[in-house]
Amino acid sequence: MQARAQKWRREGKKVVLVPTMGALHNGHLSLIKRGSKLADKLVVSIFVNPSQFGPREDFSRYARTFAADKQKCLVGGADVVFCPEREAVFPPGFDTWVDVTLLTSSLEGEARPAHFRGVATIVLKLFNLVAPDIAIFGQKDFQQSVIIRRMVDDLNLSVRIVLGPTVREPDGLALSSRNVYLTPEKRRTAGVLNRSLTWAKQQIADGKDRPAGLASQMRRIIQQESDFQVEYIEFADPQTLKKQKVISPPTVILLAARVDGTRFIDNIIIK
Ligand code: PAJ
Repeated sequence: MQARAQKWRREGKKVVLVPTMGALHNGHLSLIKRGSKLADKLVVSIFVNPSQFGPREDFSRYARTFAADKQKCLVGGADVVFCPEREAVFPPGFDTWVDVTLLTSSLEGEARPAHFRGVATIVLKLFNLVAPDIAIFGQKDFQQSVIIRRMVDDLNLSVRIVLGPTVREPDGLALSSRNVYLTPEKRRTAGVLNRSLTWAKQQIADGKDRPAGLASQMRRIIQQESDFQVEYIEFADPQTLKKQKVISPPTVILLAARVDGTRFIDNIIIK
């Protein structure tokens, strides 16, 4: 991969990377299509990264659908589907990690302590292997995208980060590889997570600017319509993820909720 990427560089090709963990759905495909428009050479990586899963998380049962994924990547315009072996990425003795410290200490990082260390490390490795001009990430994992941008700035990486919008089911549920864990009954109510976000956005447009009141009403909406247990609802600055005591757009509303042992996250940006 590295040799091929270096050859492309010498030829002046514009290289775009879309990193994924496979189990590809239309959210991933939207990023791949965006990539194919921007790229001379498009690389989609598929690697279920063990280092970003906690000990009690779903690494072993995470969906692995490689044959179908590869087909989707090629149809979407990928020039290379890069799926390294685990031992090649993390050989015995591997001992270097990327810690983006402050941004990983809140929100998802609080519930998943080593998660973003695993994400930042694999993403930096992928950047070193593929040497992309542009890398594309989804807004769905908003905190992840902020952390990657921070790493790119802090470590002087010469890659441009592009963010693609969240692709949703008709009822608003954000597409996710983990949606398959929902029972049909829980699936029927899962649209309420996004509905609570769009409701809050409207409230802010109507002049509401107190996070606490809005968050507790969002919790009530979610509790009334589903069995999801809200873990957090935060109103933050989209660049720094600093919590806003008074909502003053641009604002991102981030939420996490759990049902049947699986966490679901979603967010909305208010410009
Ligand atoms: P994964 O969950 O496979 O997601 C790959 C990319 O697809 C991420 O940038 C994610 O934000 C984006 N994505 C997921 N669901 C989406 C949706 N509904 N709409 C739009 N984009 C969506 O995120 C990871 O993998 C990993 O952490 C990775 C960055 C690959 C590092 O291992």
